[in-house]
Amino acid sequence: MQFKIKNICCIGAGYVGGPTMAVFAKHCPNININVVDINSDRIAKWNSSDLSELPVYEPGLESLIKKYRGKNLHFSSEIEKKISEADLIFISVNTPTKSKGIGAGQASDLRWIDASARQIAQHAKSNTIVVEKSTLPVRTAQTIKLILNSPDIGSKNKTFYVLSNPEFMSEGNAIKDLENPDRVLIGGENSEAIQALISLYSNWVSSEKILTTDLWSSELSKLIANAFLAQRISSINSISALCEKTGANIKEVAIAIGADKRIGSHFLNSSPGFGGSCFKKDISNLVYICKYYGLEDAALYWQKVIDINNWQSNRISQIIVNNLFGTITCKKICILGFSFKANTNDTRESPAIKICSGLLDEGASLKIYDPKVKKDMIQKNLNNFQIKENHKLEGGDWCFSNSVYEAAEEADAIVILTEWDEFRKLDWEKIAKVMRSPAWVFDTRGITNIKDAKFNLINTWSIGDGSN
Ligand code: UDX
Ligand code: UDX
Repeated sequence: MQFKIKNICCIGAGYVGGPTMAVFAKHCPNININVVDINSDRIAKWNSSDLSELPVYEPGLESLIKKYRGKNLHFSSEIEKKISEADLIFISVNTPTKSKGIGAGQASDLRWIDASARQIAQHAKSNTIVVEKSTLPVRTAQTIKLILNSPDIGSKNKTFYVLSNPEFMSEGNAIKDLENPDRVLIGGENSEAIQALISLYSNWVSSEKILTTDLWSSELSKLIANAFLAQRISSINSISALCEKTGANIKEVAIAIGADKRIGSHFLNSSPGFGGSCFKKDISNLVYICKYYGLEDAALYWQKVIDINNWQSNRISQIIVNNLFGTITCKKICILGFSFKANTNDTRESPAIKICSGLLDEGASLKIYDPKVKKDMIQKNLNNFQIKENHKLEGGDWCFSNSVYEAAEEADAIVILTEWDEFRKLDWEKIAKVMRSPAWVFDTRGITNIKDAKFNLINTWSIGDGSN
């Protein structure tokens, strides 16, 4: 079977689907790309003429949307119609952790994958290529195939070809990662279908970077890549605590160990813990799969990666309270950064949520500033705590600030939670003048000029810095 791809449909206009399809639109000018989503508000934002309203913030995304939207890139809620026109369909819907039933708290909730497969079975034409983009438990393609080939769901006499093509880009670097990936992974059974997808990527990715495998290796590789990355963060974070106790410095240690090519220098920044939609969900899923296959020790090993992540954020909350004389009731704390990492407006699983909630529980008043996360999103994440629009804080409440300096005013402490560039070059002289003394800074990313803060008589704590 020779495939001619003229129309692509992507189900799911989220942090993965949106940027990925924007880059496809750029490099495949003769292909019409339709991104569809059940969430019509999200689609309206993708279509907004004000590009600052796009639902996803990514450096470089606005200019791609400006250039290709309305040409060969379209966002709509006409799911059935766009599915029926497509030669190739990406499934890029969310696969959160199950909140109830068998495997609750660990297994992936595949209801949206199931729903998407049913929509495709009903509305797609025969010989459509169906591509898993979402990160999925190994062997999900089997379920998708069963649904697509079920005669009860409307797919009589239709043939589908299922491929796995997980996306490895990371948020905040999405466009760069998509433009220049370390590898593109395509798993499948039908060589012509695999070739059709390769030919799309070949428009901008060199052939030696395109790896092909069987379906199951491709599905599993994505889960394992995320697990290995997260494991590095838990490893370095566990050592950050040891550095603080022993007088060593985690940055120096990271440089020294990272110089060994077998270890490598990337992904060794200690932090308040990993956040984002993927790591916790995917490792929980890995733990579940290991247990399912009776591999209890393997499950315990990976569970520890999550446990250390929780320990790290709890440990930091405790350090803040201890240093502020054991009580933070009615103290004002300035929070710098709410997103789970820099260069994104995404707050899913952000360590900021847990740390801020902990401080609010202890009775602190928070003044929160983030360059890209909007007030409504913070409010959604801190929904148990009161927002004060008038900035008259009384304890256990918070307000939204429009700048670092506004947030620092009258604060007893500053807590840096996200590594935004803006926080790397703070004017500590200016800040010291507006804070309440004795003032503290807690740098949970180790990015600020701590010497400068000290020089301006601010007490300092920086992650993994044993000279604190
Ligand atoms: C998600 C998963 O979290 C990740 O594991 C996977 O690799 C890709 O999909 P992301 O794009 O970040 O990543 O999720 P999200 O921003 O929540 O976007 C998913 C979109 O799918 C949402 O906009 C949702 O409305 C949409 N959706 C969901 C559909 O259009 N149809 C459905 O049936 C279900
Ligand atoms: C991750 C994977 O990197 C990507 O390949 C996959 O497709 C999706 O999941 P993402 O979650 O977007 O990407 O961002 P990433 O850069 O991996 O950061 C994840 C979390 O780890 C963030 O909270 C970040 O702050 C933290 N992190 C990262 C550290 O604490 N230290 C580091 O050295 C790197």
